[in-house]
Amino acid sequence: MKFASVRPRLAVFALLALIALVALAGCGEQNGANFLNPSGPQAEQEAGLFWFILIIATIIFVLVTGALLYSVIRFRARPGGPAARQFSGNTPLELVWTIVPSVVLLVILVVTINTLFVGLAKPEQEAFTVQAIGHQWWWEFRYPDQKIVTADEMVIPVGKVVDIELISNNVIHSFWVPELAGKTDVIPGRTNKMWLKANNTGTFRGECTEYCGQQHANMNFQVVVQDDTGFQNWVTQQQQLPSEASQAMPGQKVFAQRCFTCHLINGQPESVNQVGPNLTHFGSRDLIAGGVLTNTPENLKAWIHDTQQFKPGNDMPAFTAIPDDQLDELVAYLESLQ
Ligand code: CUA
Repeated sequence: MKFASVRPRLAVFALLALIALVALAGCGEQNGANFLNPSGPQAEQEAGLFWFILIIATIIFVLVTGALLYSVIRFRARPGGPAARQFSGNTPLELVWTIVPSVVLLVILVVTINTLFVGLAKPEQEAFTVQAIGHQWWWEFRYPDQKIVTADEMVIPVGKVVDIELISNNVIHSFWVPELAGKTDVIPGRTNKMWLKANNTGTFRGECTEYCGQQHANMNFQVVVQDDTGFQNWVTQQQQLPSEASQAMPGQKVFAQRCFTCHLINGQPESVNQVGPNLTHFGSRDLIAGGVLTNTPENLKAWIHDTQQFKPGNDMPAFTAIPDDQLDELVAYLESLQ
């Protein structure tokens, strides 16, 4: 008798605890990009669709679970009570619980299709192209019209539509800037296309979202959204060759000896095997090593000394054999490349 009355209360308590747990799981320090904090028209549409479905699902959850809990408690078996009534073959009931869920699913389907084809349609607006190239494991960004090549960081102007061409010559990656737009796969042998537009200036985290090998989780980048003037200044700066003062630094010789086979600096001799990022304006970037480290002289020195410690399996060998003074010269040279 006592046992039977405690169990429903226990069930209600367990359910409430579960709901609280799920709700609280979203709290805490925000260190990643949040797609529910949209800053572009596509992300806004996607977040809107998410909330719409979540609200419908929550209403249904509360109604169904409420009815269930009410019935479990109110009509529970009691000693000497009557046998449960049977509903098998009740046509109106069968119709109601077939038609109501069908209508709910149909509404969600129509709203989803509308978001896909109308909400996410590219605005009729002048656009320029950026190629996002997935390497193992870092992102290269090429601006064919502006003749700019960079890595780890894509700079775009606020309020403008940017056509993104997604290219890979290795494995499948996926390109995602959660606060600006949804994911698009990057597939070897075909050029997928998407577009981005940012409503406001700022820095937005991007990541690879398709497992692509050992360092998939360390294949990050950032999208830096600038106002028109800032973007034009960036373009002008990126189009320049390194200054003569930079090229006269002692670290340039270290670079020419050790790094030139994999990394290009515009205006210097090109090798055939440019597997690493173009470093012409390395010093102007915030991130290095596929977004794993911020660009500080200390981090850069540690990275070159032993890249494998930070990103095991990456293509860049450790350079533990470079004498410390040469390493300092190399770091000073690379950081001077603004
Ligand atoms: Cu590239 Cu995961």
